[in-house]
Amino acid sequence: MRHLLSLESLSGEDMRSILDQVARYKADRRNHPRPLTGQTWALIFSKSSTRTRVSFEVGLRELGAEVLFLNAGDIQLGRGEPIRDTARVLGRMIHGAVIRTFAQSDVEEFARFSGIPTVNALTDDEHPCQILTDIFTFEEARGERIEGKVVTFVGDGACNVPASWIWAAARLGFELRIAAPKAYQPSPELLARAGGKVSCTEDLQAAATGSDLLYTDVWISMGKEAESAQRLKELAGYRIDDALVARANPGALVMHCLPAYRGKEIDATTLETHADTIFTEAENRLHTQKAIVAWMVA
Ligand code: CP
Ligand code: NVA
Repeated sequence: MRHLLSLESLSGEDMRSILDQVARYKADRRNHPRPLTGQTWALIFSKSSTRTRVSFEVGLRELGAEVLFLNAGDIQLGRGEPIRDTARVLGRMIHGAVIRTFAQSDVEEFARFSGIPTVNALTDDEHPCQILTDIFTFEEARGERIEGKVVTFVGDGACNVPASWIWAAARLGFELRIAAPKAYQPSPELLARAGGKVSCTEDLQAAATGSDLLYTDVWISMGKEAESAQRLKELAGYRIDDALVARANPGALVMHCLPAYRGKEIDATTLETHADTIFTEAENRLHTQKAIVAWMVA
């Protein structure tokens, strides 16, 4: 049985098998295979979501499934029922699960105890569906593969989104530069474990020079709200703006996983200039996740 629990657990070959199918799901939303016909899938979310929730609800339905949205606070999980018990109950009733939560170990435990295909829809450690989508979006827009290209991540380099980028860089073979203050760079342990051409710097300008993709994410990830004031102060300046884009290669793309906070991690004008790429990136969550789930149940 296949799960998508992290990009760490995926080979480059698996990533390519998924990415190769996305265009097919995008080309015709109505006439593609419906491998989930007769199944019921659940979304179990402990954190807010717009894109992930809607793209999975719509995508799973278009793959043939019935879908339940379970806010973790509304089920007994939110009152302390262990994840392994929740998993053993749901595993006897439904056919697949999409989970957004805090601890990576909870998604892994759910997969182990439920015995049903399980997707990580964001944890504190990784956001694998997002980064597979981003790579598809880059390759779709540029008409070429990401291998050998330079991706620069700007902002909080220690959160889930850059972590998934690190694993993608290691597995697919592109260069990843993380521009962040020292305290917001990924742990040396993660960098050593992943390998690949990944570098970290506080020098934003140098990191953007010669880049093919400038990418950012919120400075205050879900769960970090108590650190808001400190983060706004310490991450100030780690922003994508037009001057930074001018340092990148001609034709470089600007992407943001969204939601965007204008004037913080991205300048308002720069976001609008690159809105077509950024909102195509958001749309592509739908198509990419269909390819992910179809690969899982194949
Ligand atoms: N990018 C992303 O995952 O957005 P949501 O939090 O709205 O799902
Ligand atoms: N790093 C962000 C991503 C939001 C999609 C967070 O975890 O809140």
